[in-house]
Amino acid sequence: MSRIAYVNGRFVPHAEAAVHIEDRGYQFADGVYEVIAVAGGRPVDETAHLDRLERSLAAVHIRPPMARQPLKLVMRELLRRNRVRDGMVYLQITRGVAPRDHAFPATAKPALVLTAQRAKPVQARRAASGVKVITVEDIRWRRCDIKSISLLPNVLAKQMASEAGAYEAWQVDADGRVTEGSASNAWIITEAGEIVTRPPDAAILAGITRAAVHELAAREGLRLVERPFTVAEAKAAREAFLTSTTAYVIPVIQIDDDKVGDGRPGPLTRELARLYDAHAGASAAALASS
Ligand code: PDD
Repeated sequence: MSRIAYVNGRFVPHAEAAVHIEDRGYQFADGVYEVIAVAGGRPVDETAHLDRLERSLAAVHIRPPMARQPLKLVMRELLRRNRVRDGMVYLQITRGVAPRDHAFPATAKPALVLTAQRAKPVQARRAASGVKVITVEDIRWRRCDIKSISLLPNVLAKQMASEAGAYEAWQVDADGRVTEGSASNAWIITEAGEIVTRPPDAAILAGITRAAVHELAAREGLRLVERPFTVAEAKAAREAFLTSTTAYVIPVIQIDDDKVGDGRPGPLTRELARLYDAHAGASAAALASS
């Protein structure tokens, strides 16, 4: 079956989907995006993702090219056409096509592109066995709360991880504190049993998975603390894990050359992963019946 993409109002074969070379996303990375997980054929935490998309658009002064309701319909149609039951939707909005000039163009129309993809089964194995992360300097800008398509530092960080045989790179700020992964949020569980993750400031993306895990943990009465943590603290932690739309909850069993705990996925991480899996399924099911 051939894949279908959505480009500026049309469903087109994925292989032929294209935008103009003067699209500002291509020339300036002048745009924002979202990745939404799909479980049982339905988007997970759709409202939270669309809220964040609107926040990102407002922050960079791009007018939403489509209202929320029709956008949801486009997403569903795309999932149907691609027969995606478990996977993800990618959604990108740029400032549009205009002759190259840094300042905003007077007339360009924001461009909207969506693609859908089935989940990669390898993810489940990672969730079971845990992954290694490396630490790298965070060289990004000061508005990491905006889900911008300008991802070069993240790409470089992830490549460093890949070359080191690691799954993810945890970026570290000038004070030696972990900000987040190249495409995921970072968490530790201390010896005292506190679940720690950085507060959603401008140094990180406020992950939707992060928010869901936070709420699930709070509901279970678990001890949560939102504060920055250092690399040294992470290496001394009892457990560690990362969260993202595509990864869900993945245990971190090694940071650089140091094992986390006994080097195996910890019990609390596994419990949070189980809770999140149930949440993703339930969030999708609730949408299905609404
Ligand atoms: N990345 N931090 C960064 C820098 C990210 O790029 C992401 C997500 C996250 C986690 O956010 P969420 O839980 O909302 O997915 C944190 C997506 C999946 C990506 O770029 O593919």
